[in-house]
Amino acid sequence: MSQASTPSVIATSASSRFVRACLRQPVDRTPVWFLRQAGRYMPEYMAVRRHHSLLDICRTPDIAAEVTITAAERLGVDAAIIFADLLLPLTPMGLDFDFVAGEGPVVNTPVRTLEQVQALRTDRAEDLTYVARAIEKVAAHFSAPRPPEGPLSDPTGDQLGIIGFCGAPFTLASYMIEGGSSRNYIHAKQMMYATDGAWQLLTEKLVTMLTAFAQQQVDAGADVIQVFDSWAGALSVDDYRQYCLAPTTELVRRIRAMGVPVIYFGVDTASLLPTFRETEADVIGLDWRIPLEEGWRAVGPGTGVQGNLDPITLFAPEDVLEARVKEILRQANNRPGHIFNLGHGIVPETPVQAVINVANWVKQHGTIYTTP
Ligand code: CP3
Repeated sequence: MSQASTPSVIATSASSRFVRACLRQPVDRTPVWFLRQAGRYMPEYMAVRRHHSLLDICRTPDIAAEVTITAAERLGVDAAIIFADLLLPLTPMGLDFDFVAGEGPVVNTPVRTLEQVQALRTDRAEDLTYVARAIEKVAAHFSAPRPPEGPLSDPTGDQLGIIGFCGAPFTLASYMIEGGSSRNYIHAKQMMYATDGAWQLLTEKLVTMLTAFAQQQVDAGADVIQVFDSWAGALSVDDYRQYCLAPTTELVRRIRAMGVPVIYFGVDTASLLPTFRETEADVIGLDWRIPLEEGWRAVGPGTGVQGNLDPITLFAPEDVLEARVKEILRQANNRPGHIFNLGHGIVPETPVQAVINVANWVKQHGTIYTTP
């Protein structure tokens, strides 16, 4: 089985402990950030949200940048994920969607036939450049390195990492075909199993669009791209291998060729992890169901891992939560290539102070591998 290799161009922000960890290079301590770190649990986000819809925030670079920066600074994390949404590329492909309160995303006319797939466009990626404009603003804000934390830190300071992202072919296709969130993925799987080539054409078009979208984000200053395959856990290993591995691997290959590391994340993926490694992503995001040690064994020693605290432990008493943080660090066991994170996104109602505490505990207990 192949092992991840270093991207063809070495990432420029090697002074960032986050980027170094993605490349399995030595760091002064384990880097930390949180899935959905700028979300509804945060009063600063809700204050902005009162005046703007989710899509308005995504499509207004000043506001998207502000929300991104505020969350990263409030939490004291090592990376900022750009405020955007997985579904944004659907619009230039020709699909209208909206977020409906209490229901999540709704695609007005789901894609169910070969003719509908043939009608999807891949030539309007420039309609998404508002995300790149927001990344430029975030990159400008964080251009000055943060002071070294201790004698073992890089004396030139640490550059906060900037994460761009996109969906993986399966997870995005599932929204396009199902028309929203789904329990059983009946329509998506029906298209996969059909022999008319619709699934293959759809994933091909998605890879084309997502490559262009990722390139804009990298050009604008994203240090790393995270590919979200949030719902891949709905697939058997055989179906993942037969219908999703090739387009996902192609997307990862094209993004890595841009010179940035790729983090590939999904939920409920324990049985899929050995196959995820074959995408050659630099880092695999583990969900919270699998012990980190076991997850890392499954992806193999040549790949980094990100994760994997259960986001609901953020509601636990402080001593329980701190013990969980330490346990994850213990299981990571000084190996280069661990990025501390949750095993899925922060949920609304989460106490902000608990998230800040976790970041501080990782800084306190995060192991030093070697001096950089
Ligand atoms: O800090 C951050 O991570 C925020 C940036 C971000 C958002 N969406 C903003 C958002 C990111 C990284 C995403 C990715 C995303 N979007 C995923 C993959 C991540 C995952 O959780 O697995 C998915 C599946 C989506 C699609 C999506 N967007 C759904 C299913 C929903 C509804 C969720 C709900 O509970 O209602 C959204 C809405 C959304 N996107 C919110 C945020 C902060 C919350 C809704 C709001 O502010 O109105």
